Amino acid sequence: MTIWNALSRHATATASRPILTLFDDPKRAADFSIEACNFLFDYSKTAIDSEARALLLQLAEDSGVAARREAMFAGQPINETEDRAVLHTALRATQDQLIVDGRDVLEGVRATRARMAAFARDLREGRFQGQGGAISDVVNIGIGGSDLGPAMATLALAPYHTGPRCHFVSNVDGAHVHDVLAPLNPETTLIIVASKTFTTAETMANAASARAWMARRVADPVAQFAAVSSAPERTAAFGIAPERVFGFEDWVGGRYSLWGPVGLPLMLAIGPTHFEAMLAGAAEMDAHFRTAPFARNLPVMLALVGIWHNQIQGHATRAVLPYDQRLSRLPAYLQQLEMESNGKRVAMDGSDLTRNSGPVVWGEPGTNGQHAFYQLIHQGTRIVPCEFMLAAEGHEPELDHQHRALAANCLAQSEALLRGRNLEAARALMAARGLTGAELERQARHRVFPGNRPSTTLLYPRLTPFVLGGILALYEHRVFVEGVILGINSFDQWGVELGKELALNLAPLLEGGDAGTEHDGSTLALATLFRRLREH
Ligand code: F6P
Repeated sequence: MTIWNALSRHATATASRPILTLFDDPKRAADFSIEACNFLFDYSKTAIDSEARALLLQLAEDSGVAARREAMFAGQPINETEDRAVLHTALRATQDQLIVDGRDVLEGVRATRARMAAFARDLREGRFQGQGGAISDVVNIGIGGSDLGPAMATLALAPYHTGPRCHFVSNVDGAHVHDVLAPLNPETTLIIVASKTFTTAETMANAASARAWMARRVADPVAQFAAVSSAPERTAAFGIAPERVFGFEDWVGGRYSLWGPVGLPLMLAIGPTHFEAMLAGAAEMDAHFRTAPFARNLPVMLALVGIWHNQIQGHATRAVLPYDQRLSRLPAYLQQLEMESNGKRVAMDGSDLTRNSGPVVWGEPGTNGQHAFYQLIHQGTRIVPCEFMLAAEGHEPELDHQHRALAANCLAQSEALLRGRNLEAARALMAARGLTGAELERQARHRVFPGNRPSTTLLYPRLTPFVLGGILALYEHRVFVEGVILGINSFDQWGVELGKELALNLAPLLEGGDAGTEHDGSTLALATLFRRLREH
């Protein structure tokens, strides 16, 4: 019997056992949680018992996670469909050297980071100026990995902002670039065009619009442009001076790129020292991932919980629920990280995947979500495994009472999901309100919570740059471990290509041109209607 079969069998055999009964073991909470690197990861409120955990750990061993992990850190070309190394960890590495193909890759990483830091200091201290004085605003133009990471982290680290205001433009919808630029002064704004390839249609369209906006007020618009890219010939063609171009190598995937030049807007906002602290937090998680035994290894256990819920128990989605308002863009960031990495239907060798690919990831910060979609999580017919996140302390001592309220809500939600409320308790509640007979019964049924709904909780001291670095590296490695177990390549993204091709193909049609290659009836009809609605 394979480990997968053994896991499925065990899940079926224990399906009717309430998670709550696992707490008959007084050591359950301690035994099914991990304390490491500033974090407490509690997975005791899941149906994973000792046997399931042993099987899951065996699965990780048998899947070759350890060997693959070392291959990644050593710079071997584990992105096999693109024949590339996967070395975003090099961007935060603490060792002296990392020799890949006879070359120390850390030399270039350090040199670029030093250039970023020098530029950040010059700008923050007023030595680099706009054509109307010191830079007041920075606009990052990028999409996907060239947007989500820095946008999420810039918001997350708001208490550390001492630099210019940072804004983010991503969508090709002109409304986005318009609304962001409208209130800004072109004479004191820096535009960063962030694109690994420097060909992404949305980014190039927004960059051209921003240059035109700048040109209306300043004599030399590109003098207030910087670029973050792996394509120096294209940044040069755009006219951006090489001293403001920050490059990185093709072994940094877009969604893993926050740690290098893609993090430039964040560095401008919080300063190089705090940026380095974020890298240090990630590096600590890297070291933990490489050295901790699997049973005490945060990324490995987070991944195994994910595998248990998705591939073994069949729950198609997972909700990420940070009780930390400043992490409100984390779910969107994780959507790209997890779904672009592990949303794949073929294995590395091209064969069909025999189990589900990675889950749908979604979420919102608590307590907002409680007043929106938690209804379904508590009483819907589908189970949504929940991943709660909570800081012990906020950054506002004068508002600590609100932080305690936030924490009480977080813990109450996971407890409610676990315990639920049975019909008897619901009946008692209705009786106490004076209801009787059929009406009592009817009302009581609406107030039943089935409970037994799994969740995990990640606790951390405070959302500092160091802690944020740890959280993000934790999730990166979780994606890696899940990908290895599923046998897929987590580092390509062929699934985004077809839509891009068809969009190019459709553009002339929307302008009334030739229909070009074949289109289906619906698309042709929608294009015709679109054109008609614009004729006024
Ligand atoms: O289309 C998907 C994608 O390639 C992502 O993987 C990437 O993060 C994003 O587009 C942006 O790419 P670039 O940085 O090259 O503009």
